Amino acid sequence: MRALEVDNLRKEFETKTGPLFRKKRETITAVDGVSFAIDRGEIFSLLGPNGAGKTTTIKMLATLLIPTAGTARVFGHDVVREEATVRRLMTTVLPGERTLFWKLTVKENLRYFGSLYGLTKAYTERRIAELISFFGMEEKANALVERLSTGQRQKIVLSRALLPDPQLILLDEPTLGLDPNAARQLRELIRSVRDQGKTVLLTTHYMYEADELSDRVAIINKGRIACLDTPDQLKRSINAQKIIRAETDVWTPACSSAFEAAFPGNSIELEPDRESVRLTIMVRSGDVTIGRLASIALECGATIRTVQVDEPSLEDVFVAFTGDRAELEGESDEQSA
Ligand SMILES: Nc1ncnc2c1ncn2[C@@H]1O[C@H](COP(=O)(O)OP(=O)(O)OP(=O)(O)O)[C@@H](O)[C@H]1O
Ligand SMILES: [Mg+2]
Repeated sequence: MRALEVDNLRKEFETKTGPLFRKKRETITAVDGVSFAIDRGEIFSLLGPNGAGKTTTIKMLATLLIPTAGTARVFGHDVVREEATVRRLMTTVLPGERTLFWKLTVKENLRYFGSLYGLTKAYTERRIAELISFFGMEEKANALVERLSTGQRQKIVLSRALLPDPQLILLDEPTLGLDPNAARQLRELIRSVRDQGKTVLLTTHYMYEADELSDRVAIINKGRIACLDTPDQLKRSINAQKIIRAETDVWTPACSSAFEAAFPGNSIELEPDRESVRLTIMVRSGDVTIGRLASIALECGATIRTVQVDEPSLEDVFVAFTGDRAELEGESDEQSA
């Protein structure tokens, strides 16, 4: 039995737009027939641009939204018809969730949620000690939640979710707002949870994180799955032998024409910055070398400042399938680490 089976899942939202009294009904299709399955013990990531339908998908799986059509089963249990069973098998963490009591301490919060989950006192205390030590939060165990930083609060939200030791964990942008060390710790935690045989579905805008962590990745765009595979297979699928990334002072239309004439069949992507232009060249065929690129630049009056040759990354896959590098979150320290 699969941990999660999603079959042709769909969600439409009815909204009203326009001026008062002349509002028009509009249907937004947030999730447009999504199907995938996750095995027990797998870490599966959903990637996609803002508004792609990731959170909506997670909410339907978490029994927080009713699908317009399609089905989803958690260990064989239907998320609509067997909502109570499904909720016992899994836990969900949504971004910016304000589910902690700000006037209670960290431990008081966790004890309260332990009793809500129906856990025994002894078990709850042991779990609290484990989780607090895992996140290195010993010093804050008796602090009021309102006195914690965003990242510290996120650790407590995650501890709360992990208290009952759930079989399936849904994490929507779990490392948002965490510092690089905390994010790394969290990835370790996610891996150790997986190694205990638990199943994790997460969303992230950090390509590095998805690559490092996921057994498989689905890129979702405009409510549909654009591609789904292991990170390595996805990187192979974009059919690029290598990626040349360069930074030049300028890049004129004449440069682009010269490039196309010299390297037919290879794509070049331009990202103008304030004082430079970043070039990303997906080398698909022929002999695109740094030397030949430099001479083209020279002839069209551009100077190459930096250049590097890479293997295709998950970010390149993302761009290939969604067509937008700008949708990626700004590079954080941990991504470049
Ligand atoms: N309650 C709602 N009512 C109307 N439209 C909604 C509602 N919730 C989401 N949407 C729309 O559905 C689409 C998908 O939203 P969703 O939150 O699932 O995207 P996402 O992939 O999680 O994006 P992000 O990366 O920004 O978190 C968007 O166009 C959004 O505006
Ligand atoms: Mg979202």
